[in-house]
Amino acid sequence: MILAIETSCDDTCAAVLEPGGRHAFSNVVHTQTEHERYGGVVPEVASRAHLERLDGVVERALTDAEVDLDQVERVAVTVRPGLIGALLVGLSGAKGLAFARKLPLVPVNHLEGHVAAAYLADAELEPPFVALIASGGHTALYSVTGDGMELLGQTLDDAAGEALDKGARMLGLGFPGGPAISSAAWGGDPSRYDFPVALKEKNNLDFSFSGLKTSLLYKLKALDPDGIRKELPHLAAGYEAAVIEALSRKLLRAAELYNAPALIVVGGVAANISLRRRMEVECERHGIKLVIPPPELCTDNAAMIGAAAAALPDIPFPDYLGLNARSV
Ligand code: KG4
Ligand code: ZN
Repeated sequence: MILAIETSCDDTCAAVLEPGGRHAFSNVVHTQTEHERYGGVVPEVASRAHLERLDGVVERALTDAEVDLDQVERVAVTVRPGLIGALLVGLSGAKGLAFARKLPLVPVNHLEGHVAAAYLADAELEPPFVALIASGGHTALYSVTGDGMELLGQTLDDAAGEALDKGARMLGLGFPGGPAISSAAWGGDPSRYDFPVALKEKNNLDFSFSGLKTSLLYKLKALDPDGIRKELPHLAAGYEAAVIEALSRKLLRAAELYNAPALIVVGGVAANISLRRRMEVECERHGIKLVIPPPELCTDNAAMIGAAAAALPDIPFPDYLGLNARSV
């Protein structure tokens, strides 16, 4: 069994997986609510909350999986990128567990973890494929082969989820912005307002959402409060459509350039219904396999870290004691 731990941001996560990493017996996520009153994740608060929760979350993951600590053969843990203090809590916990049991440790890159969520959603999936990670912290396209992941393009400014969160705030909607904008867009006409999609050149696989935000700001400035209320569904629909258009366009372009037989979409934004529908239609049309894991595997979790660890080398006991976490 693999015991996996993830604490890179504001979710304290632990999971137990079969050795091949294609099935999780448990996947416990404790989302920290301590940050709500600050309107964003506070790194020091996150580290403290991880420290208070980690033991309980690991215990729960073992109980849910009906697995005894004696059955664990490897301990996997996220070591980068993320909030350094938060990562260190998970890494120290993982080291402690592995050391006490004389087990090997597997350091995992959080982004490789996100991509590996696809292996849990589709046990038959094998590279090569093109992957899009779209979350509140990251927006990046990768070509995944048997040899690893190659970065094809990434956002030059905000992440897609961040753009949705900031747009939602400008529109006076709640957090997280993605689902808030989707509900506000209900019945709206996405073509009533013209929102820009940046970096449209054919071979450009990078993303940029700052122009989109500015465009929304100007549209809001031109309306009075009553006008904003009336136009809200159209503004939300147009804004959402522009984000989805940028993501889908680049993903399909990357599939074409890299002749990818399969596409995968992960990260919190993969929960977006319009994005899912659009990609389903396009992939069907082009004969490309599409894997979009269920939302609980798309957002931060430890099962995806265990899935990535299955294909990675161990650091044998006790060589990992000096291992460090990295924020980037
Ligand atoms: O992966 P995630 O849970 O957390 C990290 O960023 O690490 O992603 C959160 C992001 C938020 O920006 C949120 O607005 C977005 O995912 N999101 C969505 C939806 N659900 C969450 N965006 C679009 N549509 C959704 N249904
Ligand atoms: Zn993440």
